Amino acid sequence: MSQRTFSIIKPDAVKKGYTAAILAEIEKAGFKIVAIKKIGLTKDQAAGFYYVHSERGFFDELTTFMSSGAIFPMVLEKDNAIADFRKLMGATDPAKADEGTLRKLFASSIGENAVHGSDAEETAAFEIGYFFTGYELK
Ligand code: CMP
Repeated sequence: MSQRTFSIIKPDAVKKGYTAAILAEIEKAGFKIVAIKKIGLTKDQAAGFYYVHSERGFFDELTTFMSSGAIFPMVLEKDNAIADFRKLMGATDPAKADEGTLRKLFASSIGENAVHGSDAEETAAFEIGYFFTGYELK
């Protein structure tokens, strides 16, 4: 069944000029780009997005990194989008990611790992709503 997920092209990948190459892989894998924009987050906005990780030791590093440059948040759609996008992304740590995955191709470390993807339906709904309003999601 058609499903939506949420993704971000992170500051490391944007700075390295990988945005178009990542979008090409995403479209090649059968995802429709429902919405996309280029923005910059404040550290507080990054903290709000990643609130589930607020007690983790890497939280300050994560929110500093995510507010360090432009990002492309986006909404993607296909059958089984959430699980399929996580497969396309690969493991959080690019050293452990399978060949051909976005993180193997474009990420350099567990912190600066090029892309984000929702891990469940409830998180996808929260994450989409954090960045997009209804009229942007037609
Ligand atoms: P993401 O899928 O965006 O969700 C949470 C992020 O926290 C994750 O990708 C990583 O970028 C980051 N993260 C997870 N573990 C670590 C870690 N050990 N050190 C730094 N960042 C981490």
